[in-house]
Amino acid sequence: MNDFDYLAEGEVYLDAACQSLRPRPVIEAINDYYEKHNSCGERVKYKWGVITDEKVEETRNLVLKYLGLKSKHYTVSFTLNTTYGINLILSQLKAECFNKIMTSEIEHNSPFLASIAFAERTGLPREVMKRKLDGSIELGKYDFKKAIVVVNCASNIDGRKLLNIKELIKKVHEDNGIVVIDAAQAMAHSVDILRGIEPDAICFSAHKLYAPSLGGIVWRDDLMTKMNCLFVGGGMVDDVEADSYTLSADNKEHRYTRFESGLQAWGEIIGLGAALKWLMKLSKTDWNNLQDNYTELYNFLKSSNRVHLLNEAPNPTISFYVDGLDSHLLGNALSRENIMARTGYFCVHYYLDHCLGLPPLVRFSLGLHNRPSDIEKVKTVMKNII
Ligand SMILES: Cc1ncc(COP(=O)(O)O)c(C=O)c1O
Repeated sequence: MNDFDYLAEGEVYLDAACQSLRPRPVIEAINDYYEKHNSCGERVKYKWGVITDEKVEETRNLVLKYLGLKSKHYTVSFTLNTTYGINLILSQLKAECFNKIMTSEIEHNSPFLASIAFAERTGLPREVMKRKLDGSIELGKYDFKKAIVVVNCASNIDGRKLLNIKELIKKVHEDNGIVVIDAAQAMAHSVDILRGIEPDAICFSAHKLYAPSLGGIVWRDDLMTKMNCLFVGGGMVDDVEADSYTLSADNKEHRYTRFESGLQAWGEIIGLGAALKWLMKLSKTDWNNLQDNYTELYNFLKSSNRVHLLNEAPNPTISFYVDGLDSHLLGNALSRENIMARTGYFCVHYYLDHCLGLPPLVRFSLGLHNRPSDIEKVKTVMKNII
């Protein structure tokens, strides 16, 4: 794709699940900010600030549009990344509103550790749910009464999805609980699973979404009633007295400030807006090319009897190990051929190491930047190695 024309032929980047490559329009949007209106947002009245404000506001609206959510009920706040967003929410929830915290076994350390820290801080019980191989949760097996449920809707091991996400949210809400979705992996290539659902919060990382390094929390406004406000500072208040302050977030128009203390990453937020516009304009051919590439690679790996795939089905994210071959050594050998792939447990230590007892893995995670020639190269190099 032309928008990644800076990528040299023969350099094969297969770590999009960690950070996507940024297409030209995103890089240009950031450069524009630094070169043409490098100003603080939401505080300054001079003309550069006005441009920044308009573009930041546009990005908030684009996030909601991308997810098909209504601004009447939801607010978009920016943070550092998914991890920061999840921790920001869990660390401020009022323990007295809940009975327990629940997560699942296939989670990234980001929600997994944050849920452990929550249980330790509050003394509330914590439950780790099982996920079926297709990614869904057997709802009948669990009691969700006043539970905080923190789960991903697409895994960073093999992209498996929380197929019954809608039913889960309905059940948890009926039982007076809340659902916080880790959408780090879903936003770029599986956004459909997020559309038409109404969780209490969605946390994501823009850097996995063809955008700059940045995080986002999309949250239901009524979540505020179940939270304390403990992380405070500049940009969050309408008035301050000697021993008290009035939060701007009490007013719907400035609700986003609830999670945005201090100056924000204005250029990166604007870059996210450019990435969302770019994603929403892609053609069916662009998506088909991605699908052809990952299906080809999946079928190639599946055809080798020395390769053990974690994936049940083709996905842009594919994890595996090779019999008798150390994954880290394989990763080094690939790197020498300019193929950049991840090795290890990808921050899913509990599930991969302790539940499944697997050796470290190799992960190929593809993106829209990949060319058919990348896949041919990986196949040739892999054949030579294994
Ligand atoms: C499923 C999932 N959740 C959470 C995270 C954490 O993302 P970040 O490091 O951007 O906070 C990742 C990162 O790979 C992930 O794949």
